[in-house]
Amino acid sequence: MKVLSVVGARPQFIKASAVSPHIRKSCREVLVHTGQHYDYAMSGVFFEGLNLPDPDYNLNAGSGGHGQQTGRILSRLEKVAVSEKPDIILIYGDTNSTLAGALCAAKLHIPVAHVEAGLRSFNRTMPEEINRVVADHVSDMLFCPTEGAVRNLAAEGVTRGVHMVGDVMYDTALKYGNAKSRALGRLGLRRGAYHLLTVHRPANTDVRESLGSIFTALSGEDVVFPAHPRTVKMMRRFGLKAPKGMRVIEPVGYVEMLSLIKNAKALVTDSGGAQKEAYFFRVPCITLREDTEWLETVEDGWNVLVGSDGKKIRAALENFRPKGKQTARFGDGHAGEKIAKLVCA
Ligand code: UD1
Ligand code: UDP
Repeated sequence: MKVLSVVGARPQFIKASAVSPHIRKSCREVLVHTGQHYDYAMSGVFFEGLNLPDPDYNLNAGSGGHGQQTGRILSRLEKVAVSEKPDIILIYGDTNSTLAGALCAAKLHIPVAHVEAGLRSFNRTMPEEINRVVADHVSDMLFCPTEGAVRNLAAEGVTRGVHMVGDVMYDTALKYGNAKSRALGRLGLRRGAYHLLTVHRPANTDVRESLGSIFTALSGEDVVFPAHPRTVKMMRRFGLKAPKGMRVIEPVGYVEMLSLIKNAKALVTDSGGAQKEAYFFRVPCITLREDTEWLETVEDGWNVLVGSDGKKIRAALENFRPKGKQTARFGDGHAGEKIAKLVCA
């Protein structure tokens, strides 16, 4: 049994680290890095920190428009798939690398397995929502992180090949959540005394008013901001400076990031994955979006959706102090093992 796994963007390296070692115990894995993310801080640091094996192929797709990036990955991946002849192609999440992997496999009549299937924000202006819907509808095996994801698929008529395995990012949060990190010391931070910011969604970064409004709302707060290269590029383009109190740093490795989230007063973010990490560590999450695919965290009262509205961001910074029970289920920390068992069966 040969599995061809496709990764390319930061969260996919983290997700693959929960699955790949288990796949390698029971079948053969060919690991393909699409090259969507390529800076050391966006890619190499995760391969090193999470002991991911070196990719067998790097497609070096790099950055570009959606069509250009997806197209480059698709045409290069097709060549690899034709020569490797895998029994199944494993894709993760909702990026352009996911979409290209799904299309490549489906067109070559190679079964597709999708890790993190069934998530929906119900916002089709988000590129990720298109990627998710298409990937799910051409997938043969759909690995859901939550019961909500299973219900979303059923509502679209997708019930065959659906497996509720839990969230692979819960596996990794459990595994690395208590790992030693020097992040706080290195940055001179005190536990519970800073806000952690991540912002990289085009709806926030590519609109000057939105990014400006977020920065203004955070002005004067003690904020640490590991900045995504997209955001740094747009700040330069808009001539937008970090506000008073905000420290812009390079993106950090996974263990450092978990430690920064865990010890923050609150997380302010538009990330998908980080919303859950805040939930896992019982840290308030202020989400700079109008919707989320991780609705459970909002329903339980640990996450509040504020978009880029300055007033709502301020109100949340001042008043949002969740304490409630956590009822959401993201599996039992063994999602990766379960996926490997099903894929390699
Ligand atoms: C992508 C995913 C998004 C995911 C995010 C994770 C899509 C459509 N989007 O968004 O779902 O949440 O990754 O971080 O697939 N850049 C660099 N160096 C890098 C990578 C990117 O400088 O190593 C810059 C380039 O200017 C590039 C921009 O960041 O144009 C955006 O990168 P891209 O991969 O297209 O999208 P992300 O915003 O990273
Ligand atoms: N992350 C990280 N370093 C950073 C920023 C994020 O390790 O500087 C981790 C974060 O903890 C989460 C994942 O990257 O596990 C989320 O990635 P991102 O926000 O880029 O993508 P999304 O989840 O929104 O698709």
